[in-house]
Amino acid sequence: MAERALEFIAKRRSIRKFTGEAIPRDALVTILKAAMAAPSANNARPWEFLVVTDRAKISAICRAHPYAGFGVDAGAVIIPFGKKEGYKWFDQDMAAATENLLLAAAQLGLGATWCGLHGELEERVHSVAGLPDDVFGFALIPIGIPAEEKPPRTQYDEKRIHWEDCRSQ
Ligand SMILES: Cc1cc2nc3c(=O)[nH]c(=O)nc-3n(C[C@H](O)[C@H](O)[C@H](O)COP(=O)(O)O)c2cc1C
Repeated sequence: MAERALEFIAKRRSIRKFTGEAIPRDALVTILKAAMAAPSANNARPWEFLVVTDRAKISAICRAHPYAGFGVDAGAVIIPFGKKEGYKWFDQDMAAATENLLLAAAQLGLGATWCGLHGELEERVHSVAGLPDDVFGFALIPIGIPAEEKPPRTQYDEKRIHWEDCRSQ
């Protein structure tokens, strides 16, 4: 059982090569259900999701981000967004939803990569994606049928664990 839990998590890797095929809508809905199942402070759920499947728009959004250009062949781009202003748990809640989304995509055999947004980068993607003025785009996530394989891994590192006391190992 424990191994199955780890297998599930370790299967998720950042996939940056896609076949260009479309993703069935029900797979996207499953992924979005997983995202919205995430924990959030006071269950505030600050998230909304822009889902783009139009090829020209996928391309324009991915090219607006200096490290997401690989996403032009993705079947979809999802941008989790929400009202960040005045909500102190925004980043933590959005990160939880984003990781859930990635885990679900991996279990469905899809490839995806979390491309972070902040500052000028967020502004560029925000404008190309047409997000409303009063929201913040948390991440740009190209999702596609994978054209590359990466081995599962946990990156478990005993040196980073301090049982009972931070000075111990
Ligand atoms: C906050 C954040 C921002 C990231 N931004 C990018 C990005 O802009 N472009 C990219 O290709 N990968 C990005 N990544 C993916 C990381 O490079 C990747 O998770 C890391 O190298 C570990 O590899 P793995 O996801 O396969 O385990 C980002 C990941 C996180 C969590």
